[in-house]
Amino acid sequence: MKILLKNNKEEIGKEIASRIVELINKKPNTVLGLATGSSPITTYKELIKAYKEKKVSFKYVTTFNLDEYVGYKREKDSYKYFMHHNLFDEIDIKDVNTHFPDATNPLAYDKEIELKEIDFQVLGIGADGHIGFNEPMISFDSKTHITKLTKQTISDNSQYFESIDAVPKEAVTMGLSTIMKAKEIVLIATGKNKRSAIKALLAGESKECPASILNRHPNVTIYLDKDADPREN
Ligand code: F6R
Repeated sequence: MKILLKNNKEEIGKEIASRIVELINKKPNTVLGLATGSSPITTYKELIKAYKEKKVSFKYVTTFNLDEYVGYKREKDSYKYFMHHNLFDEIDIKDVNTHFPDATNPLAYDKEIELKEIDFQVLGIGADGHIGFNEPMISFDSKTHITKLTKQTISDNSQYFESIDAVPKEAVTMGLSTIMKAKEIVLIATGKNKRSAIKALLAGESKECPASILNRHPNVTIYLDKDADPREN
């Protein structure tokens, strides 16, 4: 596992986006695994910039998002909306090539992913150590499934909703074993509230920290800022 300490989110976004652009230019039908939330925003901004500067085309790219809320009240609250707003509507990706897990048939997502194989997976991490919405104590063998969100996750994500009551209580998420099938994984963690989750991840495998499964993967890079780095003091 590689750990890269960067000055800020902008630097992290630039570096990950340039790795993605390089990959797509080598392999135009690259399959990307994507996250929502605040962590990948700077990466998506840089990808849009690269597209507008004609450095890359997403015409043949396929994407699989990690997760989607179940039972959201407004379209605007969905992760599908988030992705369109923050990336898809600004680039030349084809709508049919973008995928989200379906709560009515979660396991179908694993089958689709198995057929395509994710080349490059972008992850954030929850303050409780979740990746996707794989909350603490989930099985390391989990496939795409419906999950209840923890109180911590509901509270952390309430900033994007009208009120805490509007945050859905459930989501459908790729499982840990689904995520582990990606050929290459990058995880972004910035800010003090991610530090203890990163500390748990680096301490080795434990079910309390689902992200710690990444210790088993042969090609993972963790991008940190100083605040999230447990080795800093
Ligand atoms: C989002 C996702 C989550 C987030 C995590 C961190 O699709 O899968 O695991 O990556 O909750 O969220 P932010 O980046 O908002 O701190």
